[in-house]
Amino acid sequence: MTENWTVLKVLRWTSDYLDSKGVDNPRLDAELLIGSALDKDRVGLYLCYDQPLLADELTHIHQLVARRAQREPVQYILGQTEFWSLKFEVSPSVLIPRGDSEILVEEALRLINGADSHSCDSVLDIGTGSGAIAIAIAHEFMHATEQRQLQVDAIDVSLQALQVARANAEHNAVGQRINFYQHDMAELNNFVTEHIEGGYGLIVSNPPYISSAEMNDLMPEVSQHEPHLALEAGEDGLDCYKLLSAQAMIALQPLGWLAVEVGATQAQAVQHLFEQAGLSNIFTRTDYSGITRVVGAQKTGSED
Ligand SMILES: C[S@@+](CC[C@H](N)C(=O)[O-])C[C@H]1O[C@@H](n2cnc3c(N)ncnc32)[C@H](O)[C@@H]1O
Repeated sequence: MTENWTVLKVLRWTSDYLDSKGVDNPRLDAELLIGSALDKDRVGLYLCYDQPLLADELTHIHQLVARRAQREPVQYILGQTEFWSLKFEVSPSVLIPRGDSEILVEEALRLINGADSHSCDSVLDIGTGSGAIAIAIAHEFMHATEQRQLQVDAIDVSLQALQVARANAEHNAVGQRINFYQHDMAELNNFVTEHIEGGYGLIVSNPPYISSAEMNDLMPEVSQHEPHLALEAGEDGLDCYKLLSAQAMIALQPLGWLAVEVGATQAQAVQHLFEQAGLSNIFTRTDYSGITRVVGAQKTGSED
């Protein structure tokens, strides 16, 4: 009986089945899951469309597809994803890094490299999760000269997330270049005194930013599987930006920058919070569909 199930037949069946369950890209996910069960990449899969499947291969595929049909994200099922062209391990303790956050990495690199003629040599990633942003930044400086060494620190309140982040840093060869700490973004005062002289040159963060009301409208992949701690940020979704703007005034060195990712409708409110906190030279950066994804600002004023 099993010889009737070729790779192509299972692929078509899986794609239709996932479609009927409301999965967004059923064909792609079917290819990824079947490819993972057969240990083949997508090209390898195309090359064996006519291959009949063995009973244990079908059982393995069935287990993976059943999880996806329950709307578990394909990245958690495979245990990995890609960000900044690097491989990241992901588990339900961390948010799956999104392509949108690469805009924040681009802005961070622009600021680190001295877009404003004030280059910086220390970065703090707040709410590091899988470590995606800190690791992408550190990776760009992997071959930096002695004079251009960058201190990269990263914090998260979640110990489980930090374990994943440390493993990801090791796998991407920057384990020695990032310091990970369990710490709350609400209390940066002592942290800064202990870890950096004079404050950071750049603080980056992709914090939780979903409002309590929006939590009900999320796709099941997000609401039922991604960590709540990484998503919700109070009634208006702005709780973390309020904290970050106040804490940045403590944790940044003079002329240091704060750059944060924002939700699709939050840019104006976040700019306003930055202004209120006393930050200056506010800028925004849109993504490739024209949505403002990053808001940044500088700590100017007193040198002390
Ligand atoms: C939206 S996720 C971003 C993860 C990662 N930086 C990324 O871009 O994929 C936010 C992260 O902030 C962390 N977090 C939530 N509240 C925090 C707090 N008070 N202090 C520090 N980290 C916090 C969560 O555990 C989560 O890992």
